[in-house]
Amino acid sequence: MDVKEAIVGRRNVKQFKADEIERDQLLRWLDTARYAPNHRMVEPWQVVVVGPDARAALHHGANFGDAPVVLAFLSKTAEHPVDRDENIIATACFVQNFCLAAWSDGVGTRWTSIGTKPGAREILQVPEGYEVVVVLGVGYPAEVPVAKERTPIAEKLRELG
Ligand SMILES: Cc1cc2nc3c(=O)[nH]c(=O)nc-3n(C[C@H](O)[C@H](O)[C@H](O)COP(=O)(O)O)c2cc1C
Repeated sequence: MDVKEAIVGRRNVKQFKADEIERDQLLRWLDTARYAPNHRMVEPWQVVVVGPDARAALHHGANFGDAPVVLAFLSKTAEHPVDRDENIIATACFVQNFCLAAWSDGVGTRWTSIGTKPGAREILQVPEGYEVVVVLGVGYPAEVPVAKERTPIAEKLRELG
């Protein structure tokens, strides 16, 4: 699968098969993700493999679509708001790289905002100076959702003289 196919074909998967994800494969996708752009090579991301106890404590309504793997992606905070924003942007690039690398091997991801829930920081043992960007379910899709329609790019494009 080439990169354009992965970008267009990737979907936010709602429900996963029970098939396990091999740790080596998971690490390969994370290795690939490290090549994300990041200002001054801060590499602001950290990844937490969310084990069964932490996962249960998060009480996600849909149990992450029964994903066999749950990962939390953290970003380094910063005193200056611009630096903090840049770190979140770089971490989001890292996450998207991970999602695309997994997708190119037939594995899907499900985004959740559960990291913003009160208590999530403690459950995920987020270190001082980091914040949660997203918690992802990862696994083989039980079903691939139909792509939601996107706004034609012409409506989002302006040209300056
Ligand atoms: C920052 C961010 C937060 C998101 N949070 C959630 C979420 O809490 N629950 C959810 O079902 N999807 C979440 N999503 C996924 C979007 O709902 C999904 O990407 C969108 O519906 C488009 O679908 P697609 O990714 O399959 O193209 C999130 C996506 C982003 C980028």
